[in-house]
Amino acid sequence: MILAIGYYLLITALILFLTLCLLVLTTALYVKLKLEPVKGVCTSNVRLDGKIALVTGGNQGIGLETARDLAARGARVLIACRDAKAAAEAIADIRATTGNDLVEFKHLDLAKFSSVRQFAEDFNSSYDRLDILVNNAGCAGLRSKSTEDGIDVVMQVNYFGAFLLTNLLLDKIITSKPSRIVIVSSWLHNYAKLRVEDLHKVGENDFFGQIYTYSNSKLCDLLWTKALAKRLPEGVTVNSLHPGVVKTNIFRRLSGFGLKLINFLCDLMYKTPKEGAQTTIHLCVSEEVEGVRGKYFMECKEAQYSSKADDDALVEQVWNKSLELTNLRDPL
Ligand SMILES: NC(=O)c1ccc[n+]([C@@H]2O[C@H](COP(=O)([O-])OP(=O)(O)OC[C@H]3O[C@@H](n4cnc5c(N)ncnc54)[C@H](OP(=O)(O)O)[C@@H]3O)[C@@H](O)[C@H]2O)c1
Ligand SMILES: *[C@@H]1O[C@H](CO)[C@@H](O)[C@H](O)[C@H]1NC(C)=O
Ligand SMILES: *[C@@H]1O[C@H](CO)[C@@H](O)[C@H](O)[C@H]1NC(C)=O
Repeated sequence: MILAIGYYLLITALILFLTLCLLVLTTALYVKLKLEPVKGVCTSNVRLDGKIALVTGGNQGIGLETARDLAARGARVLIACRDAKAAAEAIADIRATTGNDLVEFKHLDLAKFSSVRQFAEDFNSSYDRLDILVNNAGCAGLRSKSTEDGIDVVMQVNYFGAFLLTNLLLDKIITSKPSRIVIVSSWLHNYAKLRVEDLHKVGENDFFGQIYTYSNSKLCDLLWTKALAKRLPEGVTVNSLHPGVVKTNIFRRLSGFGLKLINFLCDLMYKTPKEGAQTTIHLCVSEEVEGVRGKYFMECKEAQYSSKADDDALVEQVWNKSLELTNLRDPL
């Protein structure tokens, strides 16, 4: 009798488990087919000899493959991030694979406005132009806490740091026309719950809290792309993108079940970093993008984005609030 009940429970548990697996698998496949029916590839052969490109977070993941591609096209490439050792390895690797020695590292910590200001000043005095700025650096799943500037650390690395950096370098970008600004966002911007008054507030630290903070930072990327597109002079393009689901280190900080699940899904449908860099590269170089501004791309094509990013009042409110929090005067 007891054996029979135990047997029955075991079978039920097994069936439940298999159903759950099937559900997760179907969801993963649905997301995969919805987001990446085909993996887009940048087909442009444009050369970049004599041009200068700055890639934040260029020492690993998507940023490294972006930097490599721009270097292969002849650009002088500056990698900006924190980890100098990883950057040195990335630079040796890029030089060896492209034959281009004009690849350099400069320290930048986007979580500190003082570091961003210092970086911009150094860049301003050492380089006479900036043709391509790729705001790629980002983090996810960090424990939410306040930076020394009083802002949620994920919001500051993913959004405010890039906002300040770009604004401080705008003079250089504009005088280098035709020039391009590329902002790496994410499809997760669709799940943002943004309140302008709380833009800087430290987020909740549970799994969903972390997802919301990340999504908010990525919606800000779209809003800021719009604000810049309205203001920038002709000849400077600015666009944002979702790179796809890419197997990089970005998920490593998610803990426990969240990490296991995401790693499982990533393995199922991930792109390599090189595949994940294609849409960024497309926005950096492709002739098709000349004169395209304020758009959002996936798989090297213009794509649908959250209607929240079409809310003009929100675009302006977030722009104003961001100037205030970064202590900037409107640069444009
Ligand atoms: N992987 C995906 O599936 C996926 C999906 C959608 C969007 N994205 C976006 O794609 C971008 C690149 O992500 P990835 O997947 O390539 O991630 P990754 O491999 O973890 O690389 C992140 C990069 O950002 C830099 N970074 C992190 N914190 C920084 C800080 N405080 N200051 C300066 N640099 C910092 C890191 O360099 P240091 O640690 O040396 O500073 C690293 O180079 C991110 O914006 C991410 O949100 C990724
Ligand atoms: C960059 O240099 C120019 C002069 O060459 C100066 O007007 C501008 O304020 C500087 N910007 C930054 C961020 O240092
Ligand atoms: C943003 O700030 C500018 C200048 O201070 C102001 O004219 C404008 O009304 C503000 N817009 C919003 C939506 O707050």
